[in-house]
Amino acid sequence: MRLSKTEKMMLEGRYGEACKRSLELIMAIAESYGCGELIKIKSAHVSGVSYKNIGDAGLEHLKDLAEEGAKVRVKTTMNPCGFDLDKPWLFDVDETFFKKQLEIIKSLEAMGIRPSLTCTPYYSDNKPRIGDHIAWAESSAVIYVNSVISAYTNRESGLSALAAAITGRTALTNEHMDERRPSVVVEVSAKISDYSDWGLLGFVVGKLVPDEAPLIKVRRGVRATNDKLKCFSAGLGASSATSIFWTTVQGFPEPRDLKHVIVTNKDLKDARDKWALTRKPTVVFIGCPHCSLRELKEIAEELKGRRVKGDIMLLISTSRGVYRRASKLGLLDVFERAGAYLVKDTCLVVSPIKLSRNDVVLTDSAKTAYYAETMINATRALGSRRACLKEALGT
Ligand code: F3S
Repeated sequence: MRLSKTEKMMLEGRYGEACKRSLELIMAIAESYGCGELIKIKSAHVSGVSYKNIGDAGLEHLKDLAEEGAKVRVKTTMNPCGFDLDKPWLFDVDETFFKKQLEIIKSLEAMGIRPSLTCTPYYSDNKPRIGDHIAWAESSAVIYVNSVISAYTNRESGLSALAAAITGRTALTNEHMDERRPSVVVEVSAKISDYSDWGLLGFVVGKLVPDEAPLIKVRRGVRATNDKLKCFSAGLGASSATSIFWTTVQGFPEPRDLKHVIVTNKDLKDARDKWALTRKPTVVFIGCPHCSLRELKEIAEELKGRRVKGDIMLLISTSRGVYRRASKLGLLDVFERAGAYLVKDTCLVVSPIKLSRNDVVLTDSAKTAYYAETMINATRALGSRRACLKEALGT
């Protein structure tokens, strides 16, 4: 493998043992992809932060790295943890979980990683620019920054993103090349508008073409806002190995000779029917991926002057950065007065919240509905954002 002078010095251990081992990991990954070079990165985002996901083995690994003096060489942010650090009581956190979660965050911070605790760091804490080469984990964020921001990142794992952060390098794969192109056209004849439609569409596309880079062709008049493309990215990431997509509108020229697949109303309906609401929800969850400020403003409008039903918990998750901005705009009062919980730092999937099969979680996120199968012990249902709020408010 061709290495720069600095990379050779890292390999000789001149930047410390942790940096050496991290570079060895990045090189092994690069070799497994047949890459002969590494590329310098501008930022990293690490996943595997919740104690629920990484357990004691993950915690020990991070503690070892921190004790060895590992430091990140680029701006690095972290994914959500198991609870809102200001409201741990909301997530049934016991003493052990609480202590170990804080140890994880402390170890990451000791390496210089910002405690952003969000899967949408691009809204405030870590905003890549067009053309930036970066090393991000968290599939929804990877797909979003590649596809919507036009940055370049591999679909890193928590471990490889951390190693990339420590070395400032990642494998120079095709994902970092200008030649990345769509490999399939997905014609969407289905009607899509709500956030949940976009998330479900991403999930269905991922199931149909799990190893492709799709060009999504929507009907004229369909408005794909960045927040909706974020939901699409999350759905796509949950059901596929894809790291990028493109969008176009029907009638516009497209690359020739590509295979076509069609997503119809029936495809979306069939997928939605699997997560149909059959009983009254006990938990309504919005914010997978974490909500933007615009989304919070829309939700606050719906909540104004209303009250969440007493037997329902309405949970809305966002990032710390967006939470602070929402607070300045007075939105927190609206959520509080309505009896809704606006939380940061976490989400339903990575929290240890104790639910039972008698609980019904209604969400507008296909990703949460999918992961709830194994990560949350409750019945799950998918609905539009409006339907979620209507159920919570009993209107
Ligand atoms: Fe984010 Fe949790 Fe969804 S980490 S993408 S809100 S599963």
